[in-house]
Amino acid sequence: MEGLTIKIAPSILSADFWRLGEEVRQVERGGAHLLHVDVMDGRFVPNISVGVPVVESLKAYTILPLDVHLMIVEPERYVGAFARAGADIITFQVEATPHPHRVIQMIKEEGKKAGVVLNPSTPLGVLDYILDDLDMVLLMSVNPGFGGQKFIPAVMGKIARLRERAPALDIEVDGGIGLANVQEVVGAGANVIVAGSAIFNSPDPCETTREMVRLAREAWEGRTKA
Ligand code: DX5
Ligand code: ZN
Repeated sequence: MEGLTIKIAPSILSADFWRLGEEVRQVERGGAHLLHVDVMDGRFVPNISVGVPVVESLKAYTILPLDVHLMIVEPERYVGAFARAGADIITFQVEATPHPHRVIQMIKEEGKKAGVVLNPSTPLGVLDYILDDLDMVLLMSVNPGFGGQKFIPAVMGKIARLRERAPALDIEVDGGIGLANVQEVVGAGANVIVAGSAIFNSPDPCETTREMVRLAREAWEGRTKA
């Protein structure tokens, strides 16, 4: 796992949108490494969230790299627009297109980092012929669509199996992660941690981010020493 570092990626889905800038400053001050932006189309998932203009505004406002998670059908139609809007990493749901390999290439041609997202029930085998092309794999630990759901325990073993297979890969995990289970998720092998409600629904998002960074680092160091 040489070269990999722990990264905390607060998900703005649970932020107060009427004071989004202020919320972002809080997690910046808390030491967040990425800003996770959930894009939902009401088709791939039942919910609708934010799109290109919000990514554009965030890009002008924050120095944090934007980690854009596309939960939309036909991601190939939109990766260009999100890249131009300022996304730094674009991940798309592997279930949402028959041509994942092509979408990865499209993202890379835009000069951005590319990742695929696997739903909790999607087997790791879908990565067989694309793993070497990827900068990151995001494993969903809830069914995508909403913040504030419970972590699905079966995903813990999935993280460990992917880490065994890909020791140098950024493995991101998203859904149901908070201060109580972040160390277990990192212990299983994840190094990029998304947290929405645990951070933004807490009384002090800055302090919660800081604590999450601390706990995640501690678990990661324990892992790499072991
Ligand atoms: C869910 C989104 C998540 C969401 C996580 O579909 O992909 O990024 O914001 O929220 P929590 O951390 O509350 O489970
Ligand atoms: Zn997400």
